[in-house]
Amino acid sequence: GEDGYDLWLRYRPIVDEARRVEISAHATAIVAPAGGETMRVAVDELQRGLRGLTGHEASRVPAPDRGGAIVLGTPASSPAIAALRLEEALKAVGDEGYVLRSVRVQDRPVTVVAARHDIGVLYGTFHLLRLIQTSASVTSLDVSERPRLNRRLLNHWDNMDGSIERGYAGRSLWNWAALPATVDSRIADYARANASLGINGTVINSVNANARTLQPEYLDKVAAIARVLRPYGIRVYLSANFSAPRTIGGLATADPLDAAVAAWWRAKADEIYARIPDFGGFAVKANSEGQPGPQDYKRTHADGANMLADALASHGGVVMWRAFVYDDSVDPDRVKRAYLEFTRLDGTFRDNVFVQVKNGALDFQPREPFHPLFGAMPKTPLMAELQITQEYLGQSTHAVYLAPMWREFLASDTFAAGPGSTVARVIEGDVHPYADTGIAGVANTGSDRNWTGHGLAQANWHAYGRLAWNPSLSPEGLADEWVRMTWSNEARIVATITDLLLRSRETYVDYTMPLGLHHLIGGDHYAPMPENADPRRADWSAIYYHRASRDGVGVDRSRRGTDAVGQYRSPLRERWADPATTPDALLLWFHRLPWTYRMASGRTLWDEIVSHYTRGAEGAAAFEQAWQSIAGQVDAERHVAVAAKLHQQAIDAAAWRDKCVAYFRQFAQP
Ligand code: GCU
Repeated sequence: GEDGYDLWLRYRPIVDEARRVEISAHATAIVAPAGGETMRVAVDELQRGLRGLTGHEASRVPAPDRGGAIVLGTPASSPAIAALRLEEALKAVGDEGYVLRSVRVQDRPVTVVAARHDIGVLYGTFHLLRLIQTSASVTSLDVSERPRLNRRLLNHWDNMDGSIERGYAGRSLWNWAALPATVDSRIADYARANASLGINGTVINSVNANARTLQPEYLDKVAAIARVLRPYGIRVYLSANFSAPRTIGGLATADPLDAAVAAWWRAKADEIYARIPDFGGFAVKANSEGQPGPQDYKRTHADGANMLADALASHGGVVMWRAFVYDDSVDPDRVKRAYLEFTRLDGTFRDNVFVQVKNGALDFQPREPFHPLFGAMPKTPLMAELQITQEYLGQSTHAVYLAPMWREFLASDTFAAGPGSTVARVIEGDVHPYADTGIAGVANTGSDRNWTGHGLAQANWHAYGRLAWNPSLSPEGLADEWVRMTWSNEARIVATITDLLLRSRETYVDYTMPLGLHHLIGGDHYAPMPENADPRRADWSAIYYHRASRDGVGVDRSRRGTDAVGQYRSPLRERWADPATTPDALLLWFHRLPWTYRMASGRTLWDEIVSHYTRGAEGAAAFEQAWQSIAGQVDAERHVAVAAKLHQQAIDAAAWRDKCVAYFRQFAQP
């Protein structure tokens, strides 16, 4: 059946007869060296894909003895590839890159997938399959690809009891009770999906980490997962609880400057690497939202990160120290706190420490200005953290395609080294020379049969992985690619679904956070709750962020207000300090304005807010209509499941409009 399990690796028969014949002629056989596990999975994937797409079995042969063969390998493993003298091209694509070439070998036309290492061959194989799946040309190929970031990670916020923090697609994929004896066969499919995008690492437990994950019994289980992921080029990482030396180590302290504590972590690292020689390292959430950390001992974030980094260094591991901190004693404005805490530590971290920074300074809102830390830590490699799971974006009920949001972030100019210093270039180590580079995405996967709950949310996993490989890819191209691989190559279907996807983020912004109003939710982070006043913390409340009164609405973050704009470089700090030069989309993020404020559109602020809510709710209703227009043209099972989600989305969007308009009207038109 069509339950969405296959994701974008569906490999259903090519519908167009001429195209199917053409592809078959370009896939007469597979020439691949014996190689190891990675070569084996590359050949398996190619055979699986071609079998599905063409209906023919491409058999594996020892040499390119016929036209139309696909030749896989490295110069070291394949005499046929060595003879092509691709050294220069392969040098340029690096350790994980690859080239695809249409060439003649012994006067026969063949397609070559060549790389320096087998992992590049696997990535190149997925690229070739993608070309076939998306109706692209497979003749005259001359493709060279290399990833722009070294570490392309998923972060799973999975708890040891099988629940997933902010997960909306079922339970954890890791079955701790059955491991290590049994590894769910699904894990290999998880690895295939990730490798098809170029994802090469996974932090498998929540950043709100349970120290028990580091106990030997659990490390055996982690090692079993790592064994399944390894052939696909995916390394396992763990979130580490900073108090582990106390909670599971029996020490009296977890002070990072205590010699016994450092020794405990060194021994722990040795224990991990004995089981998992390619273990990636630790992600750490410290002194944030109640998690323990070095500040508990009056030490700095750098003291904590460096102690862990020293334990991992000899094994080649890294520390990803999260900058998601917002201690309210640092500054009254939450969005300023992480910058104030971390910029002063630049230059004090070990070489194998990343600081991992969310895209925005608040918390994964549907739109935020980029986090001012990007471009502000020239001596510390910053890893960007994106959230694929839709915590604040309709969870697994609303269709919100995140590629446009991520591109907006990656393309933002920080001006750190003059114009053109985009966030993408910062994390690529191109603005300041970083020794290592990376990106992390909080996964939206779970035990649901279709992995992501909402059928269209699969597109976000896909887009994240592809942007991690190349942050310059366009949302339009990614949506087109995903739809063709996942639904159909038929023009009208492609147009309908890509159009829906590409509108969805702005539509969601319109009905949840027009003009930069943000965090208008309660504890579920789903339903509208602009009146929310959280008794525990002001900055968990909605009213802290919108501050609506008869005088106006929004937070003044200009120089007259909290001066959050001062954390950005010129010309942004001047541009965003003045409502007249602040883009509408961020207006109430940075400013507090009267309801009668005159917008560029000529409307008052109040009318403009209402028009966004109205447009957003109408947009959501239009998605349901658009989806109905392709009923009967894609498989019914997946169509019906998405239709039900879109129906609920339209209802919820109208509820957002009604609730927020009524709430703000009390102040705007008392
Ligand atoms: C958000 C989210 C938490 C999560 C935290 C984090 O606040 O709601 O569930 O733990 O981010 O990123 O650490």
